[in-house]
Amino acid sequence: MTESAPVDPTATDAWKNLAGIADGFSPDLRGWFDAEADRADRYTFQAADLTVDLSKGLITEDILSNLLQLAKEIGVSERYEAMISGEHINATEDRAVLHTALRRPKNGTDLVPPAGFVVDGQDVDADVHATLDKVYAFAEKVRSGEWTGVTGKRIETVVNIGIGGSDLGPVMVYEALKPYVQTGLEVRFVSNIDPTDVYEKTAGLDPETTLFIVASKTFGTLETLTNARMARTWLWDQLKSTGAIDGSDAAQKDAVAKHFVAVSTALDKVAAFGIDPENAFGFWDWVGGRYSVDSAIGTSIVIAIGADNWREFLAGFHAIDEHMRTAPLEQNVPVLMGLLNVWYTNFLGAQSHAVLPYAQYLHRFPAYLQQLTMESNGKSVRWDGSPTTTDTGEIFWGEPGTNGQHAFYQLIHQGTRLVPADFIAVANPAHPIKDETGDGSTVEPGQDVHALFMANFFAQTKALAFGKTADEVRAEGTKESVVPAREFSGNRPTTSILAPSLTPSVVGQLIALYEHIVFVEGTIWGIDSFDQWGVELGKQLALQVAPAVDGDTEALESQDASTKALIKKYLELRK
Ligand code: F6P
Repeated sequence: MTESAPVDPTATDAWKNLAGIADGFSPDLRGWFDAEADRADRYTFQAADLTVDLSKGLITEDILSNLLQLAKEIGVSERYEAMISGEHINATEDRAVLHTALRRPKNGTDLVPPAGFVVDGQDVDADVHATLDKVYAFAEKVRSGEWTGVTGKRIETVVNIGIGGSDLGPVMVYEALKPYVQTGLEVRFVSNIDPTDVYEKTAGLDPETTLFIVASKTFGTLETLTNARMARTWLWDQLKSTGAIDGSDAAQKDAVAKHFVAVSTALDKVAAFGIDPENAFGFWDWVGGRYSVDSAIGTSIVIAIGADNWREFLAGFHAIDEHMRTAPLEQNVPVLMGLLNVWYTNFLGAQSHAVLPYAQYLHRFPAYLQQLTMESNGKSVRWDGSPTTTDTGEIFWGEPGTNGQHAFYQLIHQGTRLVPADFIAVANPAHPIKDETGDGSTVEPGQDVHALFMANFFAQTKALAFGKTADEVRAEGTKESVVPAREFSGNRPTTSILAPSLTPSVVGQLIALYEHIVFVEGTIWGIDSFDQWGVELGKQLALQVAPAVDGDTEALESQDASTKALIKKYLELRK
């Protein structure tokens, strides 16, 4: 079944009402909190383990009810049902979009759609769980030492080779769940086609204890296949140099069989690379690359943290999927956050969105979200090919707090642009370390450092919301000429997300939350959030330009004047 025509959001009554409210809108968070004693309560919501406070957002009851009305007029819930049921909502690729099926519990009794549902002739649950079981069994062999390299040594380092969705998710989750990684195992990630990446990531490794996972949905990505070939050559050369293998084809083939596995939807191409299809883990074209971290693409993480933690991770996703499916719109966190982003983007002129994790282990979360959000919603045509009727996409960016505070928060606090920001923190740190000595003035001896960290988390959203008036600055004895520079306007919107601890489940919950925020925004804008045609032209041109860069005169002459001159300069500089 294919998609129906998108509803033009700008033609809805709700949109017109919102445009009316936005006209001359003058937010007043100080006044709103003074007037509404229950504001914090009213706009704080729970989704699984995530407590989400929207009260420091630029919302009123009128705005919220119109945003919810917009979701109803567009049919957000109906499209979500269509997605999880396997309708081909990825219209331009004519594919189902079923990442939610990757985390449905085995033999779940009250699932929607019911367990065993069939899409395009495929029993989705059966295939998902068969693959998971295969990944778990393999991971256990590596973790237990039963899986060995060619010389019989157990694996100590796993190197995941992939890019985009076949890299960003696994890296982010590995970093987020470091405390859960089995002692004696390390995972490294190679993504960039810059040969420095593979050089640095293999540096110091023992080839006899290294396992490479080639992760590529298509198994056709230039970067990944080039890196995989370089890694294979590295393996052969290193093993030969120590006499671990001889140079025969049979020995080299055996080395690849023991030191390379793959994750892909294209198992024929995996075999052509020399990887035993027995050691390949599949997934399906209904999993978009940037929605694939909880598929077999996460094999490196399953090895690192084990099947039980992985199940918990999947359960976290599923809890949010269920929240998205069942919570009434007015309490539905992904819906509310997605709608709020539409309000900021389309009515208040925000162009970017900061994600600021106050959890060092989430330091790759903003990078992960950049692909999830921008590859999904950076589009200017709708799913029926017609132009979008409004701005789409948000530029997601961020760094962990408190590092960001000492870098770019100046602009968020006092700049001329509106930058909505999501602050994410956990109550319980992985390492509850104290500052035993303190400094005797600002920090007392024995200070719990996580509490100090969290004080920053709370202080920042407070400062952004309520600012500091000129009179308050003056009252501190500031000289008049400097007062404007020290004034903070406030009314800078933030969302605070607080979780108990950074468990596998919570990491899954956070990812699913943002997946569904992206879905809500994409649905409102009428775009296909699951294709990525915008990355194709550059890929094609790189292949077309490559001979010129390698010195082919004819290819060089066929380039445009600027590119030709740049390549010539490069060739002059290249030793
Ligand atoms: O170029 C973009 C992209 O197609 C992403 O969507 C994807 O995550 C990435 O490349 C990697 O693709 P693959 O897993 O097929 O190697």
